[in-house]
Amino acid sequence: MTQQTTSPNAVWQAVQVTRSDRERLNGHRGNILWFTGLSGSGKSTLIHAVEKQLHAAGRRTYSLDGDNVRHGLCGDLGFSNQDRVENIRRIGEVAKLMLDAGLIVLCGFISPFRADRLRVRGLVAPEDFMEIYCHCSLEVCEQRDVKGLYRKARAGLIPEFTGISSPYEPPEYPELVLDTGNATVDACMEQVFSRLSVRL
Ligand code: ADX
Repeated sequence: MTQQTTSPNAVWQAVQVTRSDRERLNGHRGNILWFTGLSGSGKSTLIHAVEKQLHAAGRRTYSLDGDNVRHGLCGDLGFSNQDRVENIRRIGEVAKLMLDAGLIVLCGFISPFRADRLRVRGLVAPEDFMEIYCHCSLEVCEQRDVKGLYRKARAGLIPEFTGISSPYEPPEYPELVLDTGNATVDACMEQVFSRLSVRL
């Protein structure tokens, strides 16, 4: 399905303050860190922990978290394939704006479809996007079941649940794979920081 990306008769307006102006003021470059993985694989824990540390170090950040974004911007969307595509499309555009605002944007979305993640990657320059795969087996996610959703999905109470009744396509060429099923949060954060530090 091809998506229309520009409204009819909309004319792009030149800006007076650019991304590099804002980055100069911030003292570091912006970047998009895109965490993907099953529900319960540790995406939210990581984005918030990484953001806390970046913020403490004086970096300008913003976290876009799947569950939170679905309380507002994407609150009208469900979990059909079509709605997930639209969810990631909107988030991708928001992340792009935030990158232009000079921020380090931490995105935590299941984002189960390769094509959608590729589309977001394609919105920005290669050095601005880092795909981070939170690798955790379905068995472990289900065992943790922090939100109790897997139990409900198994009981047939939640349709189209990722990993159970809806697919997850693992990234083929992520910049980083985190073994979130086994490694500690600190160890995963270490990996993120060592990859990120050369980009800022
Ligand atoms: S995505 O597939 O469109 O990228 P997103 O990351 O925004 O998903 O939201 C995932 C969160 O929504 C999960 O962590 C879980 O808490 C909740 N959720 C509710 N219903 C479902 C479902 N059917 N499949 C997956 N997650 C669901």
